[in-house]
Amino acid sequence: MEIKTYWEDLSDYKKLIDKCWSQPPQEMFEYAFAPSEKYPIKFRFLRENENLISAVMIYFLGEKIYGISAMATDPEYQGKGYGTKLMQKVHEEFKGLFLLKVRKEKSGFYSKLGYKIVSSDDKNHFMCFLNNSEVIDF
Ligand SMILES: CC(C)(COP(=O)(O)OP(=O)(O)OC[C@H]1O[C@@H](n2cnc3c(N)ncnc32)[C@H](O)[C@@H]1OP(=O)(O)O)[C@@H](O)C(=O)NCCC(=O)NCCS
Repeated sequence: MEIKTYWEDLSDYKKLIDKCWSQPPQEMFEYAFAPSEKYPIKFRFLRENENLISAVMIYFLGEKIYGISAMATDPEYQGKGYGTKLMQKVHEEFKGLFLLKVRKEKSGFYSKLGYKIVSSDDKNHFMCFLNNSEVIDF
């Protein structure tokens, strides 16, 4: 298993998102494939034999504050720990406060990673995860 960053080619990420969401949230395409000027974005990809298995998008919202979005594992590989492995690598690399919005029925994935629900609307949970207490060292 190899975890790498590929900046140059998002075409397979786009295919992966198409496979994972029948109706991908519009903002996913706006941000992922026409990167926002408002927030810098990084991608982290987990590949095996060059095949894209799992991917995630990380917004840089502020100093040590990250937004997680467009997390996806190829349906053929879901439930095998790949998404967890990728997110654990992200948490090793980036230290700070992580924020995300997720459909309630999928929030279990993030709960298992240590994310806590801070707020909810009818469809979504808003969750956060802190792995560097310096963020609130004031
Ligand atoms: C959510 C998703 C990214 C998880 O990736 P994955 O590689 O299948 O996750 P893992 O195999 O590492 O799962 C780890 C744990 O999370 C939980 N989990 C995984 N997918 C879940 C889901 N869709 N809903 C609730 N819990 C889930 C499982 O209980 C699993 O724990 P277990 O091994 O004890 O059963 C994947 O299902 C996916 O791509 N779904 C479609 C896209 C999507 O909805 N993304 C999330 C919104 S950002």
